[in-house]
Amino acid sequence: ANHGHSSSRAATPAYTGSSQLADASVLPTGRPLPPLQKLANTSKERGKFVATLRAQPEQRDWVPGHSTTVWCYNHSIPGPLVDVTEGDTVEIQFENHLAQESTVHWHGVATPPDQDGNPPDIVLPGASRQYRYTLPSDSASTNWYHPHPHEMTSEQVSHGLAGPFIVRPANDPLAHLPEQHLFITDLRLADDGNIPPNTRRDWMFGREGQFTLINGEYRPHIHVDGTQRWRIWNACNARYLRLTLGGQPFTLVGTDGGLLQQPVHGLTELLLTPAQRAEIIVHPPEGGGSTELRNAAYDRGAGGRNRQSDQPLASLTFARQPELRPVPDTLRTITALGEPQAFHTIFMTELMDMDVMRNNSGNTPYARPQGLYLMLNGQIYDMNRTDITARQGQVEQWQVTNLSGMGMDHPFHVHGEPFQVVEREFQGQRTPEPLLAWRDTINVRAGETVRFRMVQKHIGLRMFHCHILEHEDLGMMGNLMVLAPS
Ligand code: C2O
Ligand code: CU
Ligand code: CU
Repeated sequence: ANHGHSSSRAATPAYTGSSQLADASVLPTGRPLPPLQKLANTSKERGKFVATLRAQPEQRDWVPGHSTTVWCYNHSIPGPLVDVTEGDTVEIQFENHLAQESTVHWHGVATPPDQDGNPPDIVLPGASRQYRYTLPSDSASTNWYHPHPHEMTSEQVSHGLAGPFIVRPANDPLAHLPEQHLFITDLRLADDGNIPPNTRRDWMFGREGQFTLINGEYRPHIHVDGTQRWRIWNACNARYLRLTLGGQPFTLVGTDGGLLQQPVHGLTELLLTPAQRAEIIVHPPEGGGSTELRNAAYDRGAGGRNRQSDQPLASLTFARQPELRPVPDTLRTITALGEPQAFHTIFMTELMDMDVMRNNSGNTPYARPQGLYLMLNGQIYDMNRTDITARQGQVEQWQVTNLSGMGMDHPFHVHGEPFQVVEREFQGQRTPEPLLAWRDTINVRAGETVRFRMVQKHIGLRMFHCHILEHEDLGMMGNLMVLAPS
């Protein structure tokens, strides 16, 4: 049956341009950072994780006199934490109680393509399906899940649908450290309490809300009572995070795809594009103290239209006599991928048809604004087109160039397998990547080329796209078909 990919779109009232709520005091601040709520495992069998995730609308009373409709996984924003170990078999039943079709994409998790929530594998409103996969060895990483329906990912994530997913190593060299989880999302509220639809500006530059939330809390308080391991997710639609701890140095120990080979000490800031994750070690300074976790100023281009100012995300206190817990010098062995056997060349561009845009004021919520195209290799996404092919087991080198006419950064993501960045090229200057690390999302600045290597382990369909969700929905995405070895 042809379900038609917009047939079940919820009947959202026409966007009347209701303005963004100016009053930031509607959300309480300074409350203790709540721990992520865990998704309970209903299986008693060892090595098996069985649970249900249900997406459904709910009401929140954040704005006095108004109620806000959010979309939740299991009543919570963010969705509950899936906490599993490599080698486990995961069986998650997904129930779609939204008024529109959805999927669950396991971003960063090593799933076979047919279990990865690809746009063609939709779950209709009122329907459910089971996702089932076994996590291979050496796949420990900090991941997340979010919807991936064709052209509706921005809408669903901005209403609250995203959740954390940790795959733990069988032997964790940092198991002695207490963990702190910071799942960062953003939220926009309109003055009538609603989560307003995307404006044309959002579609162009990416949607940012006025509230940046950590584990669903606005500007919470974090107490650091000794050396801690922090896992941080950027699950925002489009917001870049350039995190600082008031100058307090920290240690980077992990990226999207799990632990680094060696820790990197003495960092004072960390850039996380949408969809990137990191693990850091935070040591309280001698004598304790207090500071803030801030999102520092960052210019992601488009002639300053994407410039963000420095903002607090959380207040922090450090214990006075911190317990010093050591970090080993070697965390893991990462083997560098060898010489490539295949090559892919991708370029990212935008196209604006000004005449069309001028004649369409764009009052249709979440509908693709006419005249605006975000493209890979000169084309917008077509679910029925194979853009590139690869062979299972080959080392592929990807060359991704951002030819943005608007001059903006695009964070590039590939589904299914992690990659190793080899080098960057910017303004004629080639810089080898200093870190041997597994990633699945990488920033590409306007005018920049990034080269990375990866190996496809599964036969089937994968996506690659810009992880500014509005750009993904507008077509800055492609299909990769992985074929059997020749
Ligand atoms: Cu978070 Cu297609 O991905
Ligand atoms: Cu993904
Ligand atoms: Cu983009």
